[in-house]
Order: sequence, then C-alpha cells, then structure tokens
Amino acid sequence: MVNRKVGIIGAGAVGATAAYSLSMMGVCKEIVLFDIVEGVAKGKAIDIGQSTHYAKRPTIITAADTSADVRDCDIVVITAGVPRKSDMTREDLLLINAKIIKSVVTDVMTYSPNAIIISVSNPLDVMTYVIHRMTGWSSNRIVGLSGALDGSRMAYQIYQKLGYGAGQTGTLVIGDHGQNMIPLPQKVQVGDVPTTDLLTDEEFAEIVERTKNGGAEIVGHLGTSGYYGPGRAIAHMVEAILNDSKIVVSSSVLLNGEYGYTDVTVGVPVILGKNGVEQIIEMTLDTKTRAKFKTSVESVREGIDILEKNGFFE
Ligand code: NAI
Ligand code: 2OP
Repeated sequence: MVNRKVGIIGAGAVGATAAYSLSMMGVCKEIVLFDIVEGVAKGKAIDIGQSTHYAKRPTIITAADTSADVRDCDIVVITAGVPRKSDMTREDLLLINAKIIKSVVTDVMTYSPNAIIISVSNPLDVMTYVIHRMTGWSSNRIVGLSGALDGSRMAYQIYQKLGYGAGQTGTLVIGDHGQNMIPLPQKVQVGDVPTTDLLTDEEFAEIVERTKNGGAEIVGHLGTSGYYGPGRAIAHMVEAILNDSKIVVSSSVLLNGEYGYTDVTVGVPVILGKNGVEQIIEMTLDTKTRAKFKTSVESVREGIDILEKNGFFE
C-alpha cells in the first residue's frame, strides 16, 4: 500500500495502545487518531508522537479535529464505543454501540472510501455485522478482531502450563469473541511438537476455560478491560494487511456458505493481505466442535436479531 496511513476512531485505551504498538513497530507512515471527547486524541497523539523518537522507524501521529479529518486512510480501525454501565441491559449496550458504529461508518465511507476496516468495538461479531450491512462493501474489506487476541491469550495459557515455548505456540480460536468462543489448544503446536504430546485432557480443559475467561480475568484485577493485548493484536492485523503478508489469523468475517452458514459474522481462520480477507480457510471440524460452532453462531444471530427487531437496519 502506498500511503500506509491508518485511521483509528476511538482513542481510548485500546485505540491508543494500537497506535503506540504500530508506531513502535514502524509499519505505517502515518496514524491519525480521532475521538469524540475533545482533547483525548490530541493529547494521546502528542504523547505517542514523542515516544516515536526512540522507535526503529519514524511514524507521523496526528489527531483529527473532526471525523472528516480522518481521510484517505488505507485502514481504519474502529474502537469507538461505550462500556456497559450497571443500569444497562445487554440489549441497551448493543443498541447504543450499534448507533455509534453506524455514525462512525458513515464518515469512513465518505472520507476513506477505499479503506479496509478493522472492527474492534464490542459486542465484536455483531458490530462487525453492522459494518457489513451499513457499508455494503465487499466482505473482504471488513475484518473483526477476535482470534488474534483470543489466540494470543490461549498461547499464554499454554505457556503457563508448560513453562516453555513462549512465542512458539499456535493461536487457533474460532467462534464468537464472547462466552461461546472455541479455543482449540489440541490443534496447535509448540515449536513443531503437537500439544497432544505435551498436555493432558485436564490441562486442555483448563486452558480452554482460562482462555474463554481471558478478558474477564483482567477486568477482575484492573476493574477495566485489557488494552495491551488487544492493541498489539490490532497492530498484528494492520501489519499483515499493509505488508500483504498473507498470514493466517482467526478473525470475525462474514460467512457466505463457509462452514455451512450465510449472512453471519463469526471467527474463523482467514488469510490477511492487502485486500483484507484474502481467503476464508475451511477447516474440517469434528462433531463436538461443529456443535459448539453452531451455538456460537446462534449467539451472534441473537444479537443481530435484537437489532433487526428494533428496526436498526431500516
Ligand atoms: P475506552 O472507553 O477506553 O475507549 C473508547 C473510546 O471511544 C472513548 O475514548 C470514547 O470517547 C470513544 N468514542 C465513543 N463514541 C465515539 C464516536 N462516535 N467517535 C469517536 N470516538 C468515540 O474503551 P476501550 O477499552 O478502548 O475499548 C474500546 C472498545 O473495544 C470497547 O467496545 C471494547 O469492549 C472493545 N474491545 C474489543 C476487543 C476485541 O477483541 N474485539 C478487545 C478489547 C476491547
Ligand atoms: C476483551 O476480550 C473486552 O473484548 C474485550 O478483553
């Protein structure tokens, strides 16, 4: 990509950490941050901009005064949203964040009409679906952050069990980015050794549970969700797209018959390159995993149905 310009909408914890990770990696020429709260994008752009003095390669970090100033981006990362408050139902949160995404996406279509969108805001799979419906863009141009993060959490849990193989462990997690996600530690390797030769069934079960609980565990300690893991995972996806790396990363994408489902967004392994989702990889799932995948898809559909029922797409 020529411009190597990345827009980040929502300069909160995750958006800013993605910008910081990207600027330390030196993979973009330019990053532009935008946030609805005045001063947030500006302050973080200055701070991150000053940190780039010590980076391997320079990155220009700017703050957009208005959403119209996030323009001509190759990639736009959407992390805008509000966290759930005690008086909100899941349905309330879904509708609030879907409305935010709708307004953000309208601007992206106007000012960065050729961009690839990385969707991050929660509930992730439903918000990714909203972006598909709002843009009507070719489905390869919209990809949601799920397996890049959940997989890194799974690899971390495998390391916690083994005590070796850091950075050498596969990261396969499919399904939704929520309670029905499907970590598949039995399918990955550490170095070139299958984990089935290294871990017991009990250990696999614990790794699965701890991976599914990965986000909540951090909230339990911090009182807020994590941002280093998510920010770095976003940077991993951005780098793959900008460099046309064609690496395999599980991500939330629109299925069109793959795995037997249509018109729903859910996490599956995909190849990421300059066109965004270059290809969806169809794995053979055993009977148990197929059943779990069905539950996962149904949970995403429930969210989409809530939006349909409330006339959101009309
Ligand atoms: P945060 O609250 O720190 O940041 C969100 C930012 O969005 C705030 O600064 C807010 O002012 C801004 N914002 C709200 N409406 C906006 C609009 N219309 N235009 C521009 N900016 C707007 O939250 P955090 O921790 O950064 O998380 C962001 C989102 O990402 C949340 O929905 C969170 O649940 C989700 N998330 C998803 C992950 C994934 O794996 N998909 C991982 C981690 C977080
Ligand atoms: C996470 O997994 C909240 O989706 C966010 O940490």
